[in-house]
Amino acid sequence: MSQKIVICGAGFLGSNVARTLLSRATTSTRRLPLVQISSRHPQAVQNSLAALADLDHTRLLFPCSVDITKPETLARAFYGANVVVSLVGIMNGTPEEFERIQWEGAENVAHAARRANARLIHVSAIGADATSTTPYARTKAFGEYAVLDACPDATIIRPSIIFGPGDGFFNRFAQLSKFFPFMPVFGGGLSRFQPVYVGDIGRAIEIISRDDEVIQKEVCGRIIEAGGPDVFTYREIMKLVLKYTNRRRPIVSIPFAVGMLQGAVMERLPETLFTVTRAQVEQLKSDNIVSSSNLDQATFQDLIANHTSTHDPLRSVHDILPTYL
Ligand SMILES: NC(=O)c1ccc[n+]([C@@H]2O[C@H](COP(=O)([O-])OP(=O)(O)OC[C@H]3O[C@@H](n4cnc5c(N)ncnc54)[C@H](OP(=O)(O)O)[C@@H]3O)[C@@H](O)[C@H]2O)c1
Repeated sequence: MSQKIVICGAGFLGSNVARTLLSRATTSTRRLPLVQISSRHPQAVQNSLAALADLDHTRLLFPCSVDITKPETLARAFYGANVVVSLVGIMNGTPEEFERIQWEGAENVAHAARRANARLIHVSAIGADATSTTPYARTKAFGEYAVLDACPDATIIRPSIIFGPGDGFFNRFAQLSKFFPFMPVFGGGLSRFQPVYVGDIGRAIEIISRDDEVIQKEVCGRIIEAGGPDVFTYREIMKLVLKYTNRRRPIVSIPFAVGMLQGAVMERLPETLFTVTRAQVEQLKSDNIVSSSNLDQATFQDLIANHTSTHDPLRSVHDILPTYL
């Protein structure tokens, strides 16, 4: 029988993971999985997938509406699932909202996956840290603890910034560069990032989802940090955005203290393209790269290199940004 994979959270990453799992171009000889999208509003993603000719639509199941803060909705969605991919996260919100979604919500998903007897792949983020002052990083860490507590065999993926068509990071700065006469960076723009291609996260999730004993030994109960092949400073990323949007703008450093003031004002206003929050400024003080103290970067790269027949390397921003910025 085919595996059933439920993707929980139909945003940028969820729709791309679905595309990877449903691709007709797969060279795999194994039985390909059935895929179900579940989210609060899954229909839009379902429709956009339905419009793509390169996908095997016979394996796309009817979508299911879930709210991870309401456990009763999860039991129905995960019925019969072999694998659940937990992708719900938020970028902005109050500390309570972060707790409700990224901690308690992640815990609800893990309990529902365990009850359904499904393997869990949970996406967290590099920088998850229970002692962090930012609610995003703190609740990502508590979400991880809750997930491993409920499902000790779960695999957690911690990506750096994810790039690809439709991403929220490079596209946002490309938009800003349209309106701003300069590109602002906080604190000199020295913090470092290791952008990872959305298709490579999709490939890793496809591999981890396989019912393969060798792979499961490598990934069960593990936290895998996922970074791309290059590390850039925030300032270098702004230069890349300008290069691939063909714009010339000076890059201007804004002190962190000014950023915090700006955040304090903007948090009170409705969210726009220009919104910056204090938590976001705070997060920019730390690097967002695979930690050198563990060898998980090798694991992410090796996982993809060792378990795909094409042995394609991780994609670099230089390959992909020009295709969509
Ligand atoms: N994008 C990145 O650069 C990046 C980097 C590191 C880690 N991550 C992590 O990767 C995961 C996916 O990120 P993404 O970029 O795909 O985010 P995204 O585009 O914002 O997608 C998240 C989706 O979660 C769904 N959602 C929100 N609240 C929900 C709830 N209560 N119940 C059910 N679904 C809910 C939303 O869809 P509905 O409105 O339909 O419910 C939304 O589309 C997140 O956990 C994020 O923290 C992302």
